[in-house]
Amino acid sequence: MNFDLTEEQLLLKRMVREFAENELAPKAAYWDETGTFPRENLKKMAELDLMGMPFPETVGGAGMSVLDYVLVLEEIARVCPTTAVILAVHTSVGTMPIYLFGNQQQKEKYLTKLCRGEYLGAFALTEPTAGSDATKIKCSAEDKGDHYLVNGTKIFITNAGEADVYCTFVVTDKTKSHHGISCLLIEKNTPGFKVGKIEKKMGLNGSKTGELIFENAIVPKENLLGQEGEGFKIAMSLLDGGRIGIGAQGIGIAQGAYDYALAYTKERKQFGQPISNFQAIQFKLADMATRIDAARLLVYQAAYLRDQKLPHSKQASMAKMYGTDTAMWVATEAVQILGGYGYIREYPVERYFRDAKITQIYEGTNQIQRLVIAKNILK
Ligand code: CAA
Repeated sequence: MNFDLTEEQLLLKRMVREFAENELAPKAAYWDETGTFPRENLKKMAELDLMGMPFPETVGGAGMSVLDYVLVLEEIARVCPTTAVILAVHTSVGTMPIYLFGNQQQKEKYLTKLCRGEYLGAFALTEPTAGSDATKIKCSAEDKGDHYLVNGTKIFITNAGEADVYCTFVVTDKTKSHHGISCLLIEKNTPGFKVGKIEKKMGLNGSKTGELIFENAIVPKENLLGQEGEGFKIAMSLLDGGRIGIGAQGIGIAQGAYDYALAYTKERKQFGQPISNFQAIQFKLADMATRIDAARLLVYQAAYLRDQKLPHSKQASMAKMYGTDTAMWVATEAVQILGGYGYIREYPVERYFRDAKITQIYEGTNQIQRLVIAKNILK
């Protein structure tokens, strides 16, 4: 068992940390405060070859491993969790479906543009009455010969209104339960498709989360991904990968909050000495560091298994659950360490705290992750 990162991975981490410190740190609070989508980051990340990390160079990607991808997400989330989720959704559930399930024509049309950051991807599964119970989606696609007529509403879609192509899950045969679900690639300018309400959120404010409305939207037949009826399996297998990325986002948030709190404890003096001298603070720092390391090992293990093409559903759910619970827990401790200062906007731990919460909810709540883990243990 080797826990060392390779020379290339260490270089990659250093390069991304520099990018995050120089380009993201100065504006992270601004994007949060103003709810501005940080579009400029997409261009910069594309220049660094970060928009298509785990895809082969032949299709415009960077030819990186899932572990490399995780290292990058972690560094970005450490500074700007908003940018991390935009990138994670674009890559693992926005672009990956086309790479894994797309035909040649679909790959030519979309994949290279997505990998190069010319297009932004999104994943549209959730509906008002189908969140955790994703098999119950109602958005329908009626076969009209050379096209589908799509009707329904999707909610809580990351990159809504910003993405160019949405991997959208629809019912093509309502008599077949989840075997009647299919996946369509729906372009932003599709007739009959519009973006509805963009949500006001607790955190991740620069990332857009919104509603997609389909009213007799005309989607060409050639935009069917895989076969009719394969949609639910496609969604589940993509989420296995997506959840590893969200676990990485979790450890990035935790690391960012911990790093800030640690430095603060050495500067802040009370009772005539730095608060890092107090055991009450030392125990918090020790627990925070331990949980971050444990979460990181789980995330790296899940990434390793996916890289090896070994079963990884259980480990992906463990990584997502523990990584994001760690983000919330560590961010809460960081706020506590900063005391009153931790509660005000001037200090970044307040933002990490708000950003952490949704990571326990999206890409499957942490209760759903426990279900997936239990199912794997008991089968
Ligand atoms: N890979 C491939 N197929 C899978 C799979 C996997 N990991 N997991 C399940 N399946 C298949 C099963 O084989 C089964 O197929 P068959 O019926 O053909 O045998 C089918 O899916 C149903 O499986 P289950 O019986 O296990 O399904 P279930 O209904 O008991 O549980 C669930 C499913 C785990 C609860 C699932 O609905 C789920 O994950 N829900 C959460 C939804 C979710 O994560 N939403 C996130 C939205 S995306 C998002 O948040 C992104 C963002 O913008 C940030």
